[in-house]
Amino acid sequence: MKLCMIGTGYVGLVSGVCFSDLGNIVYCVDKDINKINSLNKGLVPIYEPGLEEILKKNHKQKRLFFTSNLKKAVQNSDIIFICVGTPTKKNSNSADLKYVFNVANELKKLISKYKIIVTKSTVPVTTGDKIEKILNNLRKKKLIDVVSNPEFLREGEAIRDFTYPDRVIIGTESKKANKILKSLYMPIIKKSSRYINTSRRGAELIKYASNSFLATKISFINELANLCEKTGVDIKDVSLGMGLDQRIGGRFLRAGPAYGGSCFPKDTRALIDIGNKFKTDLTIVKSVVSSNDSRKTLLLERVKSILNNKLKNKKIAVLGVTFKPNTDDMREASSVPIINYLNKKNSKISYYDPSGEKIEFKNLKNVKFSKSITSACFNADLVILHTEWNDFKLLNFKKLVKKTNFKIFDMRNIYSPLKMKKLNIKYFSIGR
Ligand code: UDX
Repeated sequence: MKLCMIGTGYVGLVSGVCFSDLGNIVYCVDKDINKINSLNKGLVPIYEPGLEEILKKNHKQKRLFFTSNLKKAVQNSDIIFICVGTPTKKNSNSADLKYVFNVANELKKLISKYKIIVTKSTVPVTTGDKIEKILNNLRKKKLIDVVSNPEFLREGEAIRDFTYPDRVIIGTESKKANKILKSLYMPIIKKSSRYINTSRRGAELIKYASNSFLATKISFINELANLCEKTGVDIKDVSLGMGLDQRIGGRFLRAGPAYGGSCFPKDTRALIDIGNKFKTDLTIVKSVVSSNDSRKTLLLERVKSILNNKLKNKKIAVLGVTFKPNTDDMREASSVPIINYLNKKNSKISYYDPSGEKIEFKNLKNVKFSKSITSACFNADLVILHTEWNDFKLLNFKKLVKKTNFKIFDMRNIYSPLKMKKLNIKYFSIGR
């Protein structure tokens, strides 16, 4: 099939590349000419393991095209995916849909034969109805069907999540559109995935509900970790014991510093907003958001108490700053408030992250990027393990720090408290 992906961010680019790898002809469209030019040179603007190789292969085999010419891409395609950003509006919880509606208004002028318009961007319930309204003339002429097809891609695992999804959700009442999309996804569905056809609004809500539930699991285990610290229980035992119950499941039960990223914070807030718009108070999601937000302050208190409230001139190494491993994404990463706070308290912070230096810390006078784990940790009073990159999983801290009296704050429970005790290292972690 011939597809047009509008927006070449994490969703549009990964989906477009993977669709082309299934044998489809894919036009990836973006207004950002520089981005299109670098993509045409095979340069990938996002950090996604494995993406560059698949992109180059399909671009070379002329199945994958990058263009800023929306008209040409739309006219050459059967299915048009809207993959533009839906960020949280400033000083509000609601999703900003201006990019989505801009695309809908542009499409109005470009469609003269039947096309399926698919929203892959995460959009609030009823957005498909609004897009349909903008394209009402085309709808009346039966030239379009507007479908919701949310993605469930995790950053750093996006190719695997696309190729082996737990489910493909298609929200449409159109039998014709459903049949076409089912055949598009057939190569993936055969790989033991489940293809679910729901109403359009149902598909829109499933996305928010899924992300908010995952965020709920994480906040739940993070709060249990607080209780474990008071009761001398190991949170890893609790996660394991809970997770073996098939109804709960063991994934997304790892206690940590607080969830971050471009989705959980945005989608939980947007779901609360959708609830308000439909006069439904989503108290659980609200408590998840406030629990996660207050966790960042709680972590600062932990750092302060580990250093006996003496932060000035303390040398602090931070290993990993991204919101999760295998990405360079810093959006809502819990490292940002922590490092900003320590900077204000005049600690001396050196950080290392395998994905490189971060703009977020560039102008902080007490913060410097170290090019290696060794240089970051040398002579540190405290080493904070913030992100669980594989690079940090087998470190010899005594050799790295090269001083007798130092502490470790392992925010991802990578190491064993018992082993640290045997090594005579002052070790702190989460929920243990
Ligand atoms: C998430 C959803 O998983 C994905 O399905 C959706 O399409 C996009 O949003 P992503 O934000 O890329 O994916 O990362 P994810 O792996 O879900 O982690 C989100 C945050 O939760 C990270 O900060 C991570 O560190 C944290 N997390 C995750 C935990 O603290 N504990 C866990 O057990 C799992």
